Amino acid sequence: MEDYQFVRGTASLVSVIQMLSIETFSETFGDQNHAADLALFLKKAYATEKLLRELADSDTFFYLLYVGEEAVGYLKLNVDSAQSDIHDPAALEVERIYMKRAYQGRGLGHLLMNKAIEIANDLEKCYLWLGVWEKNEHALGYYRHYDFYQIGMHDFVVGNDVQTDLLMRKDLA
Ligand SMILES: CC(C)(COP(=O)(O)OP(=O)(O)OC[C@H]1O[C@@H](n2cnc3c(N)ncnc32)[C@H](O)[C@@H]1OP(=O)(O)O)[C@@H](O)C(=O)NCCC(=O)NCCS
Repeated sequence: MEDYQFVRGTASLVSVIQMLSIETFSETFGDQNHAADLALFLKKAYATEKLLRELADSDTFFYLLYVGEEAVGYLKLNVDSAQSDIHDPAALEVERIYMKRAYQGRGLGHLLMNKAIEIANDLEKCYLWLGVWEKNEHALGYYRHYDFYQIGMHDFVVGNDVQTDLLMRKDLA
């Protein structure tokens, strides 16, 4: 395994998180979305002020994964009032699980999922849940690999395009 470490996200890392978000979202979804929708989404979702508000929220946790000196991915986890759909105090939402494309397929995605499970267990949560675009085949396979199952659907807006996300849940032992 490569030399890696997790670093808790704080305001001082906002530009690193912003860069990782824009890069990963663009390389993952750029081909399947109109450029104008993508640009609108990136500007709004990853605006510095918005990320700083999220970093200051005590119910949201960012964890960055570093390989050597490079930040290669991150987790955005929400509990309690910070959760976006399901406001169950027994749940933890994995709102973002992002890895730069160049680092995918090396087992680092396993570290990200394990970290989310570790935090949920530390907080004595009963399950993880998340939303994933119905067309994101790679992520759907990845989540099923970790025994996530579908519990619903919700709209996810990219620019002016209303898309469908599948809501998935993983029960913790
Ligand atoms: C989702 C993501 C974090 C997964 O990371 P990854 O590097 O692709 O995952 P890994 O290669 O480390 O795989 C981890 C495990 O999942 C399995 N897996 C990964 N993708 C899979 C797939 N499509 N189908 C079945 N199993 C899969 C691997 O075999 C591995 O299993 P093992 O540890 O038992 O050998 C990464 O692909 C990513 O950031 N994608 C772009 C952003 C994105 O789509 N995020 C999700 C938005 S909802």
